[in-house]
Amino acid sequence: MAMVRAPIFAQLMANTNNGFYQQDIISVRQFDRVKLDYIFGVAEEMRHMVQQIGSADLLRGRVLANLFYEPSTRTSSSFMAAMQRLGGSVIPINEVRYSSVTKGESLPDTVRTLECYADIIVLRHPEVGSAQIAADYASKPVINAGDGTGEHPTQALLDLFTIQEEIGRIDGLKVAMVGDLKYGRTVHSLTRLLSLFDVALVFVSPEVLRLPRELVDEVKAKGLPFSEHEDVAEVVADVDVLYVTRVQRERFEDESLYEKVKDCYVITPELLKRAKERMIVMHPLPRVNEISYEVDRDPRAAYFRQMANGMYIRMALLAAVLGRA
Ligand code: NCD
Repeated sequence: MAMVRAPIFAQLMANTNNGFYQQDIISVRQFDRVKLDYIFGVAEEMRHMVQQIGSADLLRGRVLANLFYEPSTRTSSSFMAAMQRLGGSVIPINEVRYSSVTKGESLPDTVRTLECYADIIVLRHPEVGSAQIAADYASKPVINAGDGTGEHPTQALLDLFTIQEEIGRIDGLKVAMVGDLKYGRTVHSLTRLLSLFDVALVFVSPEVLRLPRELVDEVKAKGLPFSEHEDVAEVVADVDVLYVTRVQRERFEDESLYEKVKDCYVITPELLKRAKERMIVMHPLPRVNEISYEVDRDPRAAYFRQMANGMYIRMALLAAVLGRA
């Protein structure tokens, strides 16, 4: 019998044909259902690997620059953990006030500096479009970890992955988004991603925090059924996902307007009595007062499982972009 020899270098070579290799991740508009399946499949493998063995040396020797111009707990630490669990290392720049940014260094120059030392750059920045600007200057891949009120693609990926994992499907669901739909970048990205599926969307916000018209037009153009409401009690009984968000205080120009709307919705056990038995409550976190702590004990509260999924999704993205998945 002829013996077939596996090419020795096959395992060491980058997978340059996965559609993600060396690509920037700036917006969820870059994704279609095939790409989502790919990333979700890798993320499931990553979860399995972490649960069984904790880490793997897929990205040994690779360096991630984690550049955060805005506060972050989950996004920043899960990117760091993701890189480290794959054997890579991280240059964390969380406190931009200790970096040359305080001396007036521009974003392009900061990015051009970091790419000399790192293989990939994760950026969170307060301005819409900043991730694209960084990507235009960098020859290394840039991942958008939130650009102002614009997008937060990696969050939307982990949100959608959570829906898939918790409910087992996305098509046919009714998804409500509640809270600050105007400034909430996670809502903007998730709305766009959900538009790739056969879903009904329900938007619940005070008048002043309604979903930007541009996004409403995108939903309309896809022909998806959607409705807008001000009262969450009106919709809670027939949704499969209740995606709750924080009122984004830092985005308000007028503090008194923030004060008026800050506690517009509070999800309580009382309210959830009316909800389906098989539905989930999600939140990108951090929460302020939007979900009462008693809800945490409800099995439908999926937000802690949701944040755990963040690391697996980010491991999958890092591995795919660096050609190791
Ligand atoms: C969100 C963000 O930064 O946009 N947080 C996160 O990344 N999990 C939501 C928020 O800050 O309210």
